[in-house]
Amino acid sequence: MIKKEPIVFDYNNMMADYVGDCQGFDDKDIAANRALAKKAFEEVKAGRGQNMMGWTELPTNQKEVVTDIIATAKQIRKNFDSFVVLGIGGSALGPMALFQALCHLHHNELPKSKRKAPKFYVEDNVDPERMTALLDVIDVKKTMFNVITKSGSTSETMTQYLIIADILKKALGDDFASHVIATTSETKGNLIKIAKKEGFKTFFIPDGVGGRFSELCPVGLLPAAVLGINIKAFLEGAKYMDNRCRNANPSKNPALMAALLQFLSMKNGKNVSVMMPYADSLKLMADWYAQLWGESLGKAVDLDGNKVYVGQTPVKALGVTDQHSQVQLYTEGPFDKVVTLISVEKYRSEVKIADGCEDIPAVNFLCGHTMNELITAECNATEYALTRSGRLNNRIYVPEVNAFTCGQLMFFFMLQTAYTGALLHIDTFNQPGVEEGKNATYALLGRAGYEEKAKELNGQKAKTDKYII
Ligand code: PA5
Repeated sequence: MIKKEPIVFDYNNMMADYVGDCQGFDDKDIAANRALAKKAFEEVKAGRGQNMMGWTELPTNQKEVVTDIIATAKQIRKNFDSFVVLGIGGSALGPMALFQALCHLHHNELPKSKRKAPKFYVEDNVDPERMTALLDVIDVKKTMFNVITKSGSTSETMTQYLIIADILKKALGDDFASHVIATTSETKGNLIKIAKKEGFKTFFIPDGVGGRFSELCPVGLLPAAVLGINIKAFLEGAKYMDNRCRNANPSKNPALMAALLQFLSMKNGKNVSVMMPYADSLKLMADWYAQLWGESLGKAVDLDGNKVYVGQTPVKALGVTDQHSQVQLYTEGPFDKVVTLISVEKYRSEVKIADGCEDIPAVNFLCGHTMNELITAECNATEYALTRSGRLNNRIYVPEVNAFTCGQLMFFFMLQTAYTGALLHIDTFNQPGVEEGKNATYALLGRAGYEEKAKELNGQKAKTDKYII
């Protein structure tokens, strides 16, 4: 039974009363920017379901596809030993985040009887060593490959596909198509053409859903369902958060308040957004967030064409691990960060710290406590240390990591990103910087139509040996 409890956004330590006058905000700042927040809210509301904001409707408009996904997943669970996602960026980070959040932390190492789902791998790169390593551990004859690409043309994903298709054809002949599912645009790109030609089962990424906003569509839902994750509860969680964020008053809309505070912080020179979950299960949620935040808000021009060069560098951290690595910088380095702590109230297991070292009080004080108490105390301690040193921080309380709370969390961050983009008056949903890199790769590898770009690249100023040692 999944507990359907709300996640909570606590922004006390963004306020001057707590973090000090130099860095924090007060009620007057919030009141002074209420109209701006309302404008951003209205813009996002008006854009819902249109252009690149199709993702807002995903919690409620996928009844048929969810049924198809669940039925397909059931077959895959029955017939395959491994499930491999071929994709990159927004087509990979969401499935990875949900896998880490909601499956056993050593899922692939569990015996089949305990795992109850295929082993799970996401390629997310074109490192030849990684591909070779994957092929060393899977049996392609017992593996389902899910090729995911919205554009249907991303070099990395198509490279992964070409390699796997060749191996599958050699191993299975005509049956190879039953080992590939394509998740892509229904109308655009090359993958849909290939899928039709080869006869792959397909799921579609709606037109108005960009890569980093795609976790709630088949991009995320199929891998999750294969893993046995309750995708209906996941979508319900997203819908629950959506309903909580239907108010133009930031004090009554957690995602809008979170956006407004980040926006005001950016204006005060806070160029770094640290995401620090105190749970290994949420570690890759921080990776997913990093793409969402970085790619959506890092923009050179605003909607009127003015050069603005905005954005906040997302940093992924893990509590408590990074207390022994990054927190020194967060508490004593430059005043350029906002730290978001994510704490979990009820971990899915409890581990008691064993008795011992009775003659050493400085160790023995730990005995009788649980690891749960320790990790929570350490989160509280970091929050205290940050606040004491005047560092802006906020905290998201997750009652328990489950499909419902993950749906809330992801929708919260997507809405926060959309509101922040509206406050910054930028196009949150494009990625010209990423496209530039994709085009340069096409040109370097000789794709037809990219001759001009190749000329431009070849015409770059040659590097001098003087600066190479
Ligand atoms: O958010 C985005 O749009 C990008 O990061 C894409 O997800 C990424 O570039 C992969 O693109 P595609 O899904 O078209 O292969």
